Amino acid sequence: MNKAYRDEQEANKFANDHDNQINNKTDNKPFGEILKHYMDRRVVLKGGVATAVAGFLPTLTSDARHRRGGSLIGFDPVSLADASGNPGPVVSSDYKYEVLIPWGDPLEPGGPVYSYPPTAADQAKQIGIGHDGMEFYGSQHRFGRDCNRKGVLAINHEFGGTSHVLGKPAPTSLDDVRTMQHAHGVSVVGIEQKGHSGKWKVVSSTSARRIHANTPMNFSGPAATSDLLKTPNGNIALGTLNNCGNGTTPWGTYLTCEENFNGYFGATANDWEPTEEQERYGFSSNGFGYGWHNFDRRFDLSDEDYRNEENRFGWIVEIDPNDASKVPVKRTALGRFKHEGAGMTVGRGGRAVVYMGDDQRFDYIYKFVSDRNYRSMLRDGVSPLDEGKLYVARFDSDGTGEWLELTLDDPVLAANFNDQAEVLVYARVAADLLGATPMDRPEWTTVAPNGDVYCTLTNNSQRTVADAANPLAPNADGHIIRWRDSHHHVGTSFEWEIFLIAEDTHGTEESFADPDGLLADPDGRLFIQTDGGQKDGLENQLLVADTNTKEVKRLFTGVPGCEITGITMTPNRRTMFINVQHPGNGNPSVTSFPAADDGVTVPRDCTIVLTRKNGGIIGS
Ligand code: FEO
Ligand code: CA
Ligand code: CA
Ligand code: CA
Repeated sequence: MNKAYRDEQEANKFANDHDNQINNKTDNKPFGEILKHYMDRRVVLKGGVATAVAGFLPTLTSDARHRRGGSLIGFDPVSLADASGNPGPVVSSDYKYEVLIPWGDPLEPGGPVYSYPPTAADQAKQIGIGHDGMEFYGSQHRFGRDCNRKGVLAINHEFGGTSHVLGKPAPTSLDDVRTMQHAHGVSVVGIEQKGHSGKWKVVSSTSARRIHANTPMNFSGPAATSDLLKTPNGNIALGTLNNCGNGTTPWGTYLTCEENFNGYFGATANDWEPTEEQERYGFSSNGFGYGWHNFDRRFDLSDEDYRNEENRFGWIVEIDPNDASKVPVKRTALGRFKHEGAGMTVGRGGRAVVYMGDDQRFDYIYKFVSDRNYRSMLRDGVSPLDEGKLYVARFDSDGTGEWLELTLDDPVLAANFNDQAEVLVYARVAADLLGATPMDRPEWTTVAPNGDVYCTLTNNSQRTVADAANPLAPNADGHIIRWRDSHHHVGTSFEWEIFLIAEDTHGTEESFADPDGLLADPDGRLFIQTDGGQKDGLENQLLVADTNTKEVKRLFTGVPGCEITGITMTPNRRTMFINVQHPGNGNPSVTSFPAADDGVTVPRDCTIVLTRKNGGIIGS
């Protein structure tokens, strides 16, 4: 391994580890009595799950499996023996896969072809790096069943290590910084399957566009006109960063989630010190080592002209995947934190509901509920994501919980904030004051058709005191929690339970660790993706769980150094798209994927298209 790649390994390790820092220094840890409850609960969970909260599980389970008969997950799984030590990819014998849109491919046919390293100008017209959350939007063509074979893919480009993108450990010019910035963001790309069982290819599309760190953005919602989002020099809002998980709205737009935005900022002045709020969001003088602040003043926290620039990141951004002329909108009503994902559903009264994790050790789970029926709001020309209530979760030891509203009507918040805009910009601080439950790194959320909401808690090696909802201390390998809200998603109370504890699977055929990406399907399956050191010789993987029986099967394993993340399907669920993110952490001596391993070809993040050989529903 040469020095550049050793640096790269370090840089990526750091970049991948950023959510492992702790920015929550509050003491929202009502743990004493919870620990005892947990001990009892853990025994029950180990012993056979179903009685953890008496009477709770049966009401939660979907009856889809019983309706259909047989197993929900009948496919031949990738066995531990086949996957263990296998440099991959390995896919179930019932499935096949193909590679689509590797980093650097042209966004449209005829665009600039991949060459390494890319120029800034080319990268702005090519697929970005760090493939993460994504959504397939089937063609709305009026002829036939096009929507399952043709559409646009909106896909996040979370991050790329500097050595991976530039072939050197740090930028040495503004042009280098621009290349990096253009590699981040979102792609909307036209794709189509050629023939009924042919390959998926990139096609020209009027919807195709690249959105990156320098793309103009609009702000909307209660904080849109706040001084906290204005800079002294008046520069317009540009860009989206560290686009991690995603959501999709019932009205057909894409939600991209800004996660570790703090890492791109730094300070050139030696005497710079973070404010309390900056500290709560993890800003530091060197960030994650990207070095953008050395060439682009916008990312220099000590540049007074750009004061508040950092407050423009950490939002959920709405993008119209079918109209490239529409400016992306940052929806401030959903709060500012390290947004991992946006599990969206329609609650009682037709209200838009979004569940959201803040992925950092000891940070929180949030939910947004629109004020009214989303259809009538749209008819009135109001975005359902602009007017509503934002809540943060408190998990109590008796298996119930409360959604605590982030509102100035709360006397504690009224005493600490000037207006609702400030509450939203510093949502983490407001949530601290409300007494939310610090979680073991909340990643993706997803809503099952029976109303259960699932959330991955990927791990937390720094937890020293267990509680009921985070029952391991330390929690090296993570768990998945599920709950059901009162009043069909719009109420303020809920019942919850632990769904799976990763550690319990180790040494078994179901072995996994560090659950992250998550998708519930309409039949009661739960697709689980992993990001972290797997046990039993496994690489990161895609698994499928039957939410009724908790049976788990392995569908796909990736290549060394990669993460499996991002998940979406065609409307008929016969084609699934997932991503291999940062294969080899960018190091060709680890893997050249998707090229054949040769020790020198730089690996490229890419999308994997999964289909069942018999044409069946994915996961079945
Ligand atoms: Fe971008 Fe928390 O994963
Ligand atoms: Ca990632
Ligand atoms: Ca993630
Ligand atoms: Ca993760």
